[in-house]
Amino acid sequence: MHNLDIPAPEKRMRRLRANDTMRRFIRETHLSVNDLIYPIFVEENTDERVEIKSMPGVFRETETTLVDKVKECDAAGIPAIILFGVSKHKDSIGSDSMQKTGLLSRMIQIAKQAAPNILVIADVCFCEYTDHGHCGPLNDDSTDVDNDRTLENLAAQSVNAAKAGADIIAPSGMMDGGVEAIRSALNQSGFNKLPIMAYAAKFASGFYGPFRDAAGCSLGGSQGPKDRKTYQMDPANRMEALREVEQDILEGADMVMVKPGLPYLDVIREVKDTFQMPTFAYNVSGEYAMLKFAAQAGAIDHDVAMMEKLMCFKRAGADGIITYHALEAAELLNQQ
Ligand code: PBG
Repeated sequence: MHNLDIPAPEKRMRRLRANDTMRRFIRETHLSVNDLIYPIFVEENTDERVEIKSMPGVFRETETTLVDKVKECDAAGIPAIILFGVSKHKDSIGSDSMQKTGLLSRMIQIAKQAAPNILVIADVCFCEYTDHGHCGPLNDDSTDVDNDRTLENLAAQSVNAAKAGADIIAPSGMMDGGVEAIRSALNQSGFNKLPIMAYAAKFASGFYGPFRDAAGCSLGGSQGPKDRKTYQMDPANRMEALREVEQDILEGADMVMVKPGLPYLDVIREVKDTFQMPTFAYNVSGEYAMLKFAAQAGAIDHDVAMMEKLMCFKRAGADGIITYHALEAAELLNQQ
């Protein structure tokens, strides 16, 4: 493929970089609003939306302001949102999220009503709804998350989200057998057409810090392990990530995700090449915060770096990106 015999004057890479039109013409990868998924935090029992200190520009919305946010996304052409609850009704198993009148259910209904065509992704997990902050109920001696009890609850939570009108179910808890449990529960309840976006390779990452602030699901209480390393993956493991993704596909995942995003672009590329599945990246809260604070300090041109990193997710093989930048990126993309 490489002809090293071409004489030197012919080896001029800069010919195709001469001006903007030429660069546009030969561009290999394209970013559009269709690639963006906007995460929204929704706090219950509160009158005012509050900005999250560690995530400038991102708010805990109220159930009322959620309506405007969803409409704003819809107007910008963003195809999908993903909802995270900030619960005031936590208990040891996260029962609120399995109830018809609970926050998970309500925020899905509100979003669907605000903009019926936007895809509402339900993040199914328990960390936002448990008092200990773990992603499922603990085992009897509280030393770890009980995998198989979590599966039963995940099935109930997913059917609850489906009944509320969710368009996509996205399990993010990294429990073994989660996708299969959800798939069979959905099918049994008549939701066999509802797709699953599996957080297939989710790593135990330091980059989730601001999210835990935002969603109020930090660990460190007296109950359960001090971190999520017994269920989320070791950042050092690439081949294990492929096995995780394969497992979720075998269990019935329709789409897969790699999370976090930026330090894991190699994993995204490998997942895409290996499985050719619709593959998504989560540009997580810590990655968002790094850019915001670097820009605030004057160290980086915010918009340039933002569009660059979103493009790089696409170049790495992602078909879409969950990103807190979705609205501001859509604004720039819609001007082009
Ligand atoms: C909960 C969940 C987390 C994120 C999304 N869903 C946090 C965690 O696993 O601790 C992180 C998202 C982000 O940092 O933006 N399962």
